[in-house]
Amino acid sequence: MSQIKAAITAVGAYVPEYRLTNAILETMVDTNDEWIVTRTGIKERRILKEKGKGSSFLAIKAAQDLIDQKQLDPKTIDLVIVATATPDMPVASTAAYVATEIGATNAFSYDLMAACSSFLYGMSTASSYIESGRYKKVLLIGADKMSSIIDYEDRATCIIFGDAGGAVLFEPNQEGYGLVDEIHRSDGIGRNFLKIDAGGSILPASHETIDLKQHYVFQDGKNVFKYAVSNMAEVSEQVVRRNGLDNDQIDWLVPHQANKRIIDATARRIELPEEKVMVNIHKYGNTTSATLPLCLKEYESQLKKGDRLVFAAFGGGFTWGSILLTWAYDS
Ligand code: UT7
Repeated sequence: MSQIKAAITAVGAYVPEYRLTNAILETMVDTNDEWIVTRTGIKERRILKEKGKGSSFLAIKAAQDLIDQKQLDPKTIDLVIVATATPDMPVASTAAYVATEIGATNAFSYDLMAACSSFLYGMSTASSYIESGRYKKVLLIGADKMSSIIDYEDRATCIIFGDAGGAVLFEPNQEGYGLVDEIHRSDGIGRNFLKIDAGGSILPASHETIDLKQHYVFQDGKNVFKYAVSNMAEVSEQVVRRNGLDNDQIDWLVPHQANKRIIDATARRIELPEEKVMVNIHKYGNTTSATLPLCLKEYESQLKKGDRLVFAAFGGGFTWGSILLTWAYDS
């Protein structure tokens, strides 16, 4: 393991104003508040309503929040990674546009896609650049405008997802804080259960694909749930145990916010009480690449230097993993 530790040194986030509540969804599809809350834990989600604005808008807002908080000169950023499942456009890099808009004129930039695990995998990528000594400031942004790929007539998916952006800065840490260990996995069997059929290279968009609504997210929720519960819990437990830690030595679980029942199952597996688990799914739903930084932003004031955080995520592909990281600063 490298001597240079990669630490998170700042956090930023952004959620759009508009709240899509369960009550509003009841008027759109055959569903009800009680079903949504008991099955998912979600009460409302934020939606980016303004036309012509994509995930880059959410990413830029989140990055600007971080830059303001940290009083960071964007010209000192070496690399901007945008983790996203909903890039602005299929070919043009969203990260390139974001980097230019925030004034990171000395940075290079690229998008990273791994569905709901994009941000977690991005943490691995960003840390590696820092640990190798190659770069000093890596800005990792998770942003998704999920409303752009959701069918608001499909009750199986439209109740779940929301729009948001979140950002963290990775820098070298001399005190030994930062990323400690990680376990990441993937399994291509998953693409049958959570996907968008059309618009990619297998099935390019056509009038027919539009008529068949194949450009929207399809999810076989039951199967995804089954894989998510067992895999997310398993890697989280492995990363804790192989570092010789007991549950009382873990300060926070930072789980992907896909379903409150999946979060609870992961917390149970590493024997963490409720008060050590970051949860905001009730307010934002599943914001895909933004869930982890959005949690950090919300709980930042409670985090203390040296706290041990276990991150965990599971998403389409399938992709999943867990990261153990020590927090580097007091708010
Ligand atoms: O972040 C990426 C990874 N994604 C996930 O981790 C999501 C994993 N899956 C889930 O969170 C859950 O499977 C869902 C929340 C998507 C669904 O919950 P579930 O408990 O697995 O429900 P289900 O799909 O098994 O559906 C149970 C019943 C069905 O009715 P029948 O066939 O039993 O009569 C559905 O048609 O609930 C029905 N249903 C609904 N009812 C009211 C499905 N969606 C709704 C709805 N409102 N919105």
